[in-house]
Amino acid sequence: MPLVTSKEILQRALEDHFAVGAFNANNMEQIQAIVEVAQEERAPVILQVSQGAIRYAGLAFAAGMVKIAASMVDVPVVLHLDHGTSFEQNVLCLREGFTSLMFDGSKLPFEENVTITRRICEIAHIAGIPVEAELGKVLQAADGVTAAEVEAAMTDPDQALEFVQRTGADSLAVAVGSIHGMTGREASLDIDRIERIRRKVNVPLVLHGSSGVKHESVLAAIEHGICKINVATYLNQAFVEAMKESLAAKPDVVDPRKHLAPAREAVKERVREKIRLFGSNGRISASGGFVSPRTVHRSVELGGAEE
Ligand code: G3H
Ligand code: ZN
Repeated sequence: MPLVTSKEILQRALEDHFAVGAFNANNMEQIQAIVEVAQEERAPVILQVSQGAIRYAGLAFAAGMVKIAASMVDVPVVLHLDHGTSFEQNVLCLREGFTSLMFDGSKLPFEENVTITRRICEIAHIAGIPVEAELGKVLQAADGVTAAEVEAAMTDPDQALEFVQRTGADSLAVAVGSIHGMTGREASLDIDRIERIRRKVNVPLVLHGSSGVKHESVLAAIEHGICKINVATYLNQAFVEAMKESLAAKPDVVDPRKHLAPAREAVKERVREKIRLFGSNGRISASGGFVSPRTVHRSVELGGAEE
């Protein structure tokens, strides 16, 4: 199926109270794992290309792999720029055929974030492409952040309203307690803050840094308006762990595919777990359109060991 924009699927997620998984597309095996599970689970899915992935694979290659993967399935797939760092990067991705953009101006002063986000929205909207923006700051676990720093970086609901009104952003990444790159599931979200933001702004809200968030918190966040959930570290962990196991078990095997195939399988299982947690499974009919929400049931197992 041709790529779709994030606008259409996030709007549907907002209306039907589920979240779309936005999985980072770092290499061919991970991209295959993500789209294969989306197809098997009849779920809309977002494949997102980060600045790091662009540096690693090259923009055309990274985008090309996602486009090929999308063309092989009959569920909606979005090609999204994750944490775009500049106006120029967004324009390059627009030209490359991305169907969803992001400008992350969270490190900038508010006014500068507004100005650049608005410029990107103006140009992207001419081409019919939606833009995610960020307000508040989702910090990095690698920086050794404290609880007080996380709290101080959270999104202010009143500022969120002004930001969305002035920029025209189509979705908003919010800082509500998650931290990028956590390797254990220990973080709880400020659900009350999500609710207060949702009451102020009417665009779909985005959760970054979900790998470290407790499943109970994720479910509550979806109930209160989170529509897109970014997952990267949790998939990378599975990929690397499976590679390590394979290399240890078969140290004499030099065919890389023999080690990459189990890594791809490991990623598939984690994508499936998240898609079911987010309630995006079973949303797409055999004809490729959304099914009626009444026929969908979230299948989640809670209470397992937090990792
Ligand atoms: O933008 C990507 C993410 O927010 C992923 O965060 O690596 O903590 O899952 P994560
Ligand atoms: Zn992020």
